[in-house]
Amino acid sequence: MKRILGAGFAGIALTAMATACWAAKTPDVQEAPFGQTASGKAVQVYTLTNEHGIQARIMTYGGTLVSLKTPDRNGKLADIVLGFDSVKPYVEGVPYYGALIGRYANRIANGRFTLDGKTYQLPKNDGPNSLHGGDKGFDKRLWTAKPFETKEGPGLRLTYVSADGEEGYPGKLTTHVTYQLRNDNSLSIEYEATTTKPTPINLTNHSYFNLSGNPQNTILNDVLLINADKFTPINATMIPTGELQPVAGTPFDFRKPTVIGARINDNNEQLHYAHGYDDNWVLVKPHPDAMTTAAVLTDPGSGRVLEVKTTEPGIQFYTGNFQDGKPAGKGTVYNYRTGLTLETQHFPDSPNQPSFPSTILRPGQTFKSHTVFIFRTTK
Ligand code: BGC
Repeated sequence: MKRILGAGFAGIALTAMATACWAAKTPDVQEAPFGQTASGKAVQVYTLTNEHGIQARIMTYGGTLVSLKTPDRNGKLADIVLGFDSVKPYVEGVPYYGALIGRYANRIANGRFTLDGKTYQLPKNDGPNSLHGGDKGFDKRLWTAKPFETKEGPGLRLTYVSADGEEGYPGKLTTHVTYQLRNDNSLSIEYEATTTKPTPINLTNHSYFNLSGNPQNTILNDVLLINADKFTPINATMIPTGELQPVAGTPFDFRKPTVIGARINDNNEQLHYAHGYDDNWVLVKPHPDAMTTAAVLTDPGSGRVLEVKTTEPGIQFYTGNFQDGKPAGKGTVYNYRTGLTLETQHFPDSPNQPSFPSTILRPGQTFKSHTVFIFRTTK
């Protein structure tokens, strides 16, 4: 493994031997090979460590967060995201574990939308709909990576240029995603994009969290707060009906911290359609782009707490309803509901829903979005 950046040494490459001499709490970035894509291109993994020893590993394939080690209430580090030990299972098609999702996170009905009078057809890779950017979305692309370090902590700036027409979407889209593992114990993800033609865009990170640090445990005993008084109900193919439904009196009310498993098996049409929770919540915001708390997840066993803040208007909370134990990762299997996602986003199917906040990016504009995962513990 090659140490490429460290406090006060930005840009200086050091040898593996020198690396071993550094104290664990020196913030830094290390680079190592992680395998190859199907076409034989080398994939690198970058390990970011902040000054408290929190560690995030991100690979260039899919800009994927491969592991994230945070302390429990006793200071013991464990990995709180599901993932794999090499790029191989990702290339073979695991469902979006830790990946960056684009061009359009979530579903577009019938894989079709009309923009400025022209209709575009996208791949239908989820029943009748297009999901997470199509057959080969941003999660399956090789990103270029540039490590950096500021006084806030070590980071990685990833870039991917999506060709005009890729996966059916118009315009050449240049996307930068900047991960920074901050010394205030947070992982910041900033998204930026420009286009040569008007195009829909909705970017997110698709990490499966298991705050217990032991993926043998389900996520059903975790306690969740979602800062939303409405959600976007779906039809049987998981496309929003267009309505914003109050959460009050439904199993979707997480305005107070609530055990995830408490109502997940309720007799509720929405829960049946999604086989559990797999919905978009409409976040409470003082103004549309405000950076606000979207969700707070607590694992009572380990004491780990994850707070999600975002400038996005929505969040998809998904309870691993399609996890089936395959393939095995990091020496264990990922069974039903052993991971949950908190995907900050614009609402699903927005290109076909005129009443939803717009997801259209036009030439000359810069798309910007920012999400922060904050790590702390409770007694
Ligand atoms: C979607 C789920 C889908 C999952 C795949 C989530 O973002 O909402 O329906 O099965 O991604 O990992």
